[in-house]
Amino acid sequence: MAVSMTTFMLFSVLVFAPLCLSHKSNGGYLYPQYYDHSCPKALEIVKSVVAKAVAKETRMAASLLRLHFHDCFVKGCDASVLLDNSSNIISEKGSNPNRNSARGFEVIDDIKSALEKECPGTVSCADALALAARDSTVLAGGPTWDVPLGRKDSKGASISGSNNMIPAPNNTFQTILTKFKLQGLNVVDLVALSGSHTIGNSRCTSFRQRLYNQSGNGQPDYSLDRSYAAQLRKNCPRSGGDQNLFFLDFVSPTKFDNFYFKNILASKGLLSSDQILLTKSSASMDLVKKYAENNELFFEQFAKSMVKMGNITPLTGSRGEIRKTCRKINKS
Ligand code: HEM
Ligand SMILES: *[C@@H]1O[C@H](CO)[C@@H](O)[C@H](O)[C@H]1NC(C)=O
Ligand SMILES: *[C@@H]1O[C@H](CO)[C@@H](O)[C@H](O)[C@H]1NC(C)=O
Ligand SMILES: *[C@@H]1O[C@H](CO)[C@@H](O)[C@H](O)[C@H]1NC(C)=O
Repeated sequence: MAVSMTTFMLFSVLVFAPLCLSHKSNGGYLYPQYYDHSCPKALEIVKSVVAKAVAKETRMAASLLRLHFHDCFVKGCDASVLLDNSSNIISEKGSNPNRNSARGFEVIDDIKSALEKECPGTVSCADALALAARDSTVLAGGPTWDVPLGRKDSKGASISGSNNMIPAPNNTFQTILTKFKLQGLNVVDLVALSGSHTIGNSRCTSFRQRLYNQSGNGQPDYSLDRSYAAQLRKNCPRSGGDQNLFFLDFVSPTKFDNFYFKNILASKGLLSSDQILLTKSSASMDLVKKYAENNELFFEQFAKSMVKMGNITPLTGSRGEIRKTCRKINKS
């Protein structure tokens, strides 16, 4: 009896200690095999819907990747960004960073309905979005990683969180770094994750200030290459054309690679928030140079930082719910 009790206690420690340890860090409850028994086809389903959507429109890979970021920075990766306006919810879709900009919601709807068909009430919208971001990265030619899973969906949204926690393209380096640190992310994560801007588009309105009147002194932003700026001005006038689209990485706009960092070294980062990675901190400057030189290093760190971002304060266990529809909370 004594022996078996000791054996049992040792067994318990071995089995549960890792859970207790991981409990301490954000996202410790999440693990990649979460749906292995409850919905074994979940990962395949997400991948195939994303693949179809990206085949139809290449940019969708970028849009889905960004959507996961905009979810995670607002009260954690809880699918809050997916909720529409309703009687008691003010949608994050109307925030400054998201209005006329965030996209891909229909693809998430398609993923969710395919998941509900296969395993009703099982896979959260937050997990679907985290998987879609990974699959999008891979489809664009970027690195892959195992996505820790088991997030639940929120029962609310935060428009103020969306306005205040997500960095703006004209924020200072310090402000952007502070916004990352508030999420438990560091300067390495900031530089690596900014590498997402190797794919996708930006509207004129997100960088116009750099072309004409950067500091309110009538002068352009001199950290922007002159001839590149002249080219941008053609389609991004002083006024009007707010929604005109530009590639974030003009060299290889749809390929996930390290040209984003090479462009910054050539003073051809599109957003102010891209270019200041080079000028405002020696730590970030060194990282930009390292990733520009070594694509493999960028890919490795990007994957790590994506897992870290995906672990930002998830709802787990009995907190939150599995939404039936990603756009609205379940009826209670
Ligand atoms: C570091 C601070 C960041 C700032 C200031 C920033 C800002 C922006 C802005 C202004 C745009 C263009 C939006 C528009 O004009 O419609 C954009 C696009 C994009 N961002 Fe960021 N971003 C940041 C970090 C990130 C991170 C961490 C990710 C992903 C992990 C990301 C992924 C993307 C992608 C993929 C696009 C293109 C979306 C599309 O084409 O639909 N960004 N970002
Ligand atoms: C949600 O409703 C508010 C006002 O109640 C409105 O200002 C906002 O534009 C709406 N958001 C969306 C995404 O339709
Ligand atoms: C940043 O851009 C926003 C939106 O265009 C603008 O309202 C704000 O004044 C700008 N901030 C700075 C510091 O230039
Ligand atoms: C530049 O911005 C400042 C402050 O916003 C404004 O007073 C000035 O008229 C602008 N100048 C030009 C040339 O747009």
